[in-house]
Amino acid sequence: METIISPSLLACDFLNIEKEIKSFDNEKNIWFHLDIMDGHFVPNLTFGHPIVEKISKITKIPLDAHFMVNNPSFHKDTFKNYNIHNFTFHFESVSDPLKFLTEAKNIYPSVGISLKPKTPIESLSTELLEKVDLILIMSVEPGFGGQKFIEGTYQKIINLNAKKNKMNLDFSIQVDGGVTDGNAKKLKECGANNLVAGSYIFKNPSSEYSNKINSLRE
Ligand code: DX5
Ligand code: ZN
Repeated sequence: METIISPSLLACDFLNIEKEIKSFDNEKNIWFHLDIMDGHFVPNLTFGHPIVEKISKITKIPLDAHFMVNNPSFHKDTFKNYNIHNFTFHFESVSDPLKFLTEAKNIYPSVGISLKPKTPIESLSTELLEKVDLILIMSVEPGFGGQKFIEGTYQKIINLNAKKNKMNLDFSIQVDGGVTDGNAKKLKECGANNLVAGSYIFKNPSSEYSNKINSLRE
C-alpha cells in the first residue's frame, strides 16, 4: 500500500487558497489535511464551515479533517455535508471514545482517533482498535504548525504497529507535526503509512509541491 501524503492546508497561502489547492490536482495518493481548531481544546483558531465547504467544491482529493475541538460531537453532525473523507477526533476530547467512533462511522467513510504526544497508545482499547480506520499519532503538541518533531514519536509508532500486526488489523497509522524529508523514511520504517506535512511542503518554496511529495514518499 502506497504511503498517503496529507499536505496540511494550515501552512498554505490563504490569500491564494484556490490556486494552492489546484496545484495538487495531478497528485495521486494524497489527502488534504484540514486542521480545525476551536480556541478551547487548543489555544488557536483556524477555519470552519464556509472554508471547508468551499474547499470541498473545488477538489476531488479526499479531505482529511483533524478536529482539535472540545465538542467533536456537535461538529461531527454539522460538518457532514462537506464530503469529508476522514474525520479524526481527539481521544482526549470525548468521554466515551467507542460511542463517539460508532456514531461517527455512521456518517463518514473513514474515522480516525488522534493521540496527543503524552497520551499513551495503551489508552486505546481492543474494541477501539478493531473498529477504527486510522490512528493519528501527534508528533508535536496540537495547536500550531511549524513546531519541532518530538523524537519519542518513533517508539510510539513502533509499539502501535506491533500491536496492529499482532491483532491482525489494518487501520492506518498517520503522523502529524514536524514531518520533513529528514524523518519521513524512518517514520515509514516504524510503521506509519500516512504522513501529514504543512511547513515542509508549503513554507519552503525551493521546489515544486510534487517534488516535496515525492521526497516524503521515497
Ligand atoms: C498541528 C496540526 C498540524 C500542522 C502540521 O496542530 O495538527 O497538522 O499543520 O504542521 P507542520 O507540518 O508545519 O508541523
Ligand atoms: Zn493536524
